Amino acid sequence: MTTSQSLRDQIAARHNKAAELSDEDKLYRYNGVLYPEMMCPESHLKVLGDTKARPDDIMLVAYPKCGFTWMLGVLKTIIAEATGNKVVTEILPLIEFLSREDFKIFDEAPSPRFVGTHMHPDNIPVSFYTKKTKMLVILRNPKDTLVSYYHFYNNNPVLPSAKSWDTFFSQFMSGNVAYGLYFDYILAWEKKMDDPNVKIITYEELKQDPSQGIRDISTFFGLTLTEDQVQQVAEGTSFDAMKKNSAKTHATMGSVFFRKGMVGDWKNHFTPEQSQEMDDAFNKHLAGTRLGAKLNYQQYCQ
Ligand code: A3P
Repeated sequence: MTTSQSLRDQIAARHNKAAELSDEDKLYRYNGVLYPEMMCPESHLKVLGDTKARPDDIMLVAYPKCGFTWMLGVLKTIIAEATGNKVVTEILPLIEFLSREDFKIFDEAPSPRFVGTHMHPDNIPVSFYTKKTKMLVILRNPKDTLVSYYHFYNNNPVLPSAKSWDTFFSQFMSGNVAYGLYFDYILAWEKKMDDPNVKIITYEELKQDPSQGIRDISTFFGLTLTEDQVQQVAEGTSFDAMKKNSAKTHATMGSVFFRKGMVGDWKNHFTPEQSQEMDDAFNKHLAGTRLGAKLNYQQYCQ
């Protein structure tokens, strides 16, 4: 089985290789959407559709910077608490990062397996839908997502540096960033909101009431926690606790994945005009939708 250490080694090796690429070569387009060459080259995306899902895979789905790492920590801790440290197979964090060789390990790995992805819901391999794999989806308000992504571009060797805040703002708004237009992504989940195998949560609701979020997530995956365990998971996966441990869990990327962990940092970055542009885009794409309401845009973005 792949160990956490060997996973970290594989990712570090890809980061080192990415550092040798020019910014222009770090992203490429596949079916119109940008992807990081060093993590998910075309050869990976071409075979992704063949992925063999299992009903008991534990799937975590998020657009970049919506809180994937946090939820991964929450899920791992819930499973450890609920099952008495039962081992869950961890492959590379995202299925699109898997090469054909990695897929052999993935196919043979014992259940339950963690499966993560940033792929648009329409590009998630179809077998995850047909096998009725349970998918936890985390969304975040678009203004803080953009800010977090801007800093990620500037600190992650597999992504090109953002030329400037204004340039990155325009790129994000037009979907010219890795994994495409965030509004498209949210709208695609709107269509799957009533699927009983899909649970959508928001970064902001988790931040406001982590204990309730942890109870809901455990129930969704059919896991039972005592109230003490809920509190333990909440404490162990708070931003401060995860950041403190991040040198161990994420080596040199620790301070990159655990940056500020707050709601509302957009106020330190957006100009009034940019804020208005995002408000208009939100209204254009998501006004009147159920997910638009769930994101509670007025409270967190205005
Ligand atoms: P910021 O850049 O706004 O600080 P992802 O894991 O999807 O890349 O998301 C990264 C974002 O989640 C970062 O946001 C990071 O700080 C935040 N984050 C990571 N762990 C967290 C935690 N335990 N609680 C709250 N936010 C967390």
